[in-house]
Amino acid sequence: METVVSGIRPTGNLHLGNYFGAVKSFIKMQEDYNCFFFIADWHSLTTHPHPENIRKSVKTILAEYLACGIDPEKATIYVQSDVKEVAELYLYLNMNAYLGELERVTSFKEKVRKQPDNVNAGLLTYPSLMAADILIHHAHKVPVGKDQEQNMEMARKFARRFNTIYNVEYFKEPESFHFSEKAVKIPGLDGSGKMGKSEGNAIYLVDDEATIRKKVMKAVTDSGPTVPNSEKPDVIQNLFTLMEVVSDPSTLAYFNEQYNNCAIRYGDMKKQLAADINQFCAPIRERIVDLSQNNAYMEKVAREGAERARESAAKTLREVREIIGFRA
Ligand code: TRP
Repeated sequence: METVVSGIRPTGNLHLGNYFGAVKSFIKMQEDYNCFFFIADWHSLTTHPHPENIRKSVKTILAEYLACGIDPEKATIYVQSDVKEVAELYLYLNMNAYLGELERVTSFKEKVRKQPDNVNAGLLTYPSLMAADILIHHAHKVPVGKDQEQNMEMARKFARRFNTIYNVEYFKEPESFHFSEKAVKIPGLDGSGKMGKSEGNAIYLVDDEATIRKKVMKAVTDSGPTVPNSEKPDVIQNLFTLMEVVSDPSTLAYFNEQYNNCAIRYGDMKKQLAADINQFCAPIRERIVDLSQNNAYMEKVAREGAERARESAAKTLREVREIIGFRA
């Protein structure tokens, strides 16, 4: 069975866009692959050197992924910092990673612009740590967003370079699996396009019914079509796209027909959309609340996941040490 590895940065709560992108593809992949999903808490130190409460944000993201249906019986779920072997592989990869190529990475340059007072070595070597995450389990496929392509190229380059330097055929080149191309793009409610945390237009899986309603009712619309069967402007299409993923097909068909007949009342449509989003989120929200209160279970999931991940990681490290020439 092929192996899949993906890392999740613990940056706040999941929204519908995350659900219909990364999360849904993880849920699917856990059925068909040997999956390792981990929370990248070491990576977060590159941008947040004093994490206010790193344990809490790790717990939040773990509860949310589990609530969505990531199943610890099917996938290995762990916290990056629990698997210290990753740090050792990162060290070896860094010895063969060059300043010039690391400096050319776009996301590094972006972060330098964003945090000029904290251009740390971790930021520079972010791609080596990510490569270590991936290569430590010999991943075949890595589900990531399009924005991670350059990091993936670095991971492949580091794998090849290791093989060349030590004259082995040890690491294989991991392939990217771009879930964003396969998934429906979930729009934000402000008509600006994509739903995102930084865009401030997101509906979170933990939002309660009143919050969802308030956000949906505030969505931008226009004065409605005047010509039958006219094309939908973006702001209107956004509402329909959301309805496509959360509502019953007959509901969608009804509002489509209303639109095409120029009889649509956006207020009614939004009320329906809010109700359907709530119906979709409610069971997930309840599981998030339950899980967050069940510390013992969450600890158990993290502990068992770390054990499984360490087994796989330790084997790689024994082999890598032997290849380089250290005591295995
Ligand atoms: N860099 C990824 C992101 O920002 C997170 C990540 C860290 C990751 N290590 C990884 C993703 C390994 C895939 C595989 O989203």
